[in-house]
Amino acid sequence: MLIKEKTPILSSEITDKAIFINRRKIIKAAAGISIASLLPGSVNAQEKKYAHIPAGPYSASLKVTDYEDAANYTNYYEFSTNKKDSTVLAKNLKTIPWNVTVEGEAEKTGVFNLEDILKNNSLEERIYRFRCVEAWSMAAPWIGFPLGAMLKQFQPSSKAKFVKFTTLYDPEVMIGQKTKALGWPYVEGLRMDEAMHPLAFMATGMYDDTLPNQNGAPLRLVIPWKYGFKSIKAIVKIRFTETMPATAWNKMAPGEYGFYANVNPAVAHPRWSQSRERILGASIFTPKRKTEMFNGYEEQVASLYSGMDLKKYF
Ligand code: MTE
Repeated sequence: MLIKEKTPILSSEITDKAIFINRRKIIKAAAGISIASLLPGSVNAQEKKYAHIPAGPYSASLKVTDYEDAANYTNYYEFSTNKKDSTVLAKNLKTIPWNVTVEGEAEKTGVFNLEDILKNNSLEERIYRFRCVEAWSMAAPWIGFPLGAMLKQFQPSSKAKFVKFTTLYDPEVMIGQKTKALGWPYVEGLRMDEAMHPLAFMATGMYDDTLPNQNGAPLRLVIPWKYGFKSIKAIVKIRFTETMPATAWNKMAPGEYGFYANVNPAVAHPRWSQSRERILGASIFTPKRKTEMFNGYEEQVASLYSGMDLKKYF
């Protein structure tokens, strides 16, 4: 990852979920005062698509990062290595219609329309901690469904030991793909047992609405106990494999980005410490947060790695 980028001046403090909901209500109320909204039976045009999605049982009660910070400080190398530029350039991506190709060691392979995938999976909200390998973090309210429930529908065979995810390749729109910032397309992967873990999540939305393009619309992974680069955006292909897939960051710099990429404050990145994290949106006077093992999800996921040397398999 690039580390020379200047830290932006960030305005807002981390916002409590209750405050963000209240603020949203106020905005909605203000937006709703129009002639049209006074007519009987009128629909409030400002209503967000996922405004009424219930919180799932694995949603944590955390202070939520301000939307403006989560949506304007994005890593999306297909567009640019600069966080502000990628936010703007990603608006050019057309996300409807969207197909996902399923291949490999499974019964039900083929091309699936995202609308059909959504019909088969009930949406829930999950507030998760999110820790980037660059040592910043946020807590975002994602909307989506458990990854495992989705994968099961394709009936993976007993040969499926890993699952590989691929991002769209379209250099005419994703102009960063014309550069050598990474090997394209962006690929990520999980061991099957990791993918089936109830915390592994497939997101189609955040903050009560569909995902903004820059945050990975229309479909992205969110793996809260791993560094953010595992949470691949704009997924167009899912492949069940017998062997560990080669992943984009691991191929680029194998000594810096492992396949597992579990958040681990005890294993430093070769160029910086991973023991603390800057909270996105917090004032410059706010002390850095101590990074937790598995990003605070140790109790739930540690057993996936029992007996493994986490310094070797970083
Ligand atoms: N997925 C793709 N396809 N391309 C990327 O550049 N960046 C990764 C991950 N997923 C990336 C990606 C990194 S490094 C991080 S930290 C997260 O997305 C950032 O997610 P956010 O921009 O929604 O905060």
